[in-house]
Amino acid sequence: MRIAVIPGDGIGQEVIPAALRTLALLTGEMRLDLEWEVFDWGARRWLAEGEGIPDGALGTLTREYRAILFGALGDRRIPDMAHGRAILLGLRTGLNLYVNYRPLFLPGATVDLYRENTEGLYAGMGGTAAGVAVDTCVYTRQTVERFVRYCLRDLSNKGRRRVTLVHKANAVPHTGRLWQEVFHAELTAFPELTATEEYVDSFCYHLVRDPSRYEGVLTENLFGDIASDVGAALMGGLGFAASANLCPETGFGLFEPVHGSAPDIAGTGAANPYAAMMSAAMLLDHVGYRCAAGHLRECLCPAAPAATTEQFTETVLSLLRRRLRGNG
Ligand code: IPM
Ligand code: MN
Repeated sequence: MRIAVIPGDGIGQEVIPAALRTLALLTGEMRLDLEWEVFDWGARRWLAEGEGIPDGALGTLTREYRAILFGALGDRRIPDMAHGRAILLGLRTGLNLYVNYRPLFLPGATVDLYRENTEGLYAGMGGTAAGVAVDTCVYTRQTVERFVRYCLRDLSNKGRRRVTLVHKANAVPHTGRLWQEVFHAELTAFPELTATEEYVDSFCYHLVRDPSRYEGVLTENLFGDIASDVGAALMGGLGFAASANLCPETGFGLFEPVHGSAPDIAGTGAANPYAAMMSAAMLLDHVGYRCAAGHLRECLCPAAPAATTEQFTETVLSLLRRRLRGNG
């Protein structure tokens, strides 16, 4: 099967090649049917050719590839991130990747955080006129329903028992109420789940103080974006947070570290490839290579204290080799 690889900008060009070295090792040792092609979408191409996602590329991706491994976008020459919106948000909406699963692996708790990934304040509705700037938060019932339904089913399949809806209905009542209504309606099909609701501000407070309060968390696009960085800080840094962007209907997925292009450390060799490798493990899981995913995950934690991208990668590769060749 074929995987599309988009390293993107900044440290994406460092952590994705590192993750590919682990995939290459696993593919060789475990005889996986896996090949990949690297796409040069990102700031360089945007500046040189004015192109984000080439014409027809979305169709090609879904026809010829099973998933995408994505690095990061962000470049100081494009301060408004126009290319980031065009490419990353273009892929999320264009491929209908409406579930953004961002698990938080914390001491004493794993929190399954699900972020709606296509609408809300990211819907692209708004404009500026006569000194008034408007970004509209848009949610359609259908979008909230399909998202909530998928997440509740996924949590139930994972054996989770508690689910929390995170919103801000006290101040943002229209979309907030829609989420509450849909959440409670969909919950009736999952009597095994105990549900609570929290305002996003309060949720961030409690997440930092006591993450074991949560098992599954469902939230809208912007709140999920913010909460995933709070969660990353709790995990030890942005370099540890991985994510899956999924379309449950087509089975297509885009897997990416949460950290972004980190221009401040790009080129120094200090980028942490943990999240990129964890995203690759999530990709392997998603395409059915559970055993390979497990091996990769098992080798990441012991490698975590390594200081440089290269040292971390070498450590993971040698742990993997030992494990796969039965000496460890
Ligand atoms: C993320 C990023 C993106 C987002 C940016 C790069 C548009 O922050 O994936 O968390 O806001 O979704
Ligand atoms: Mn973010």
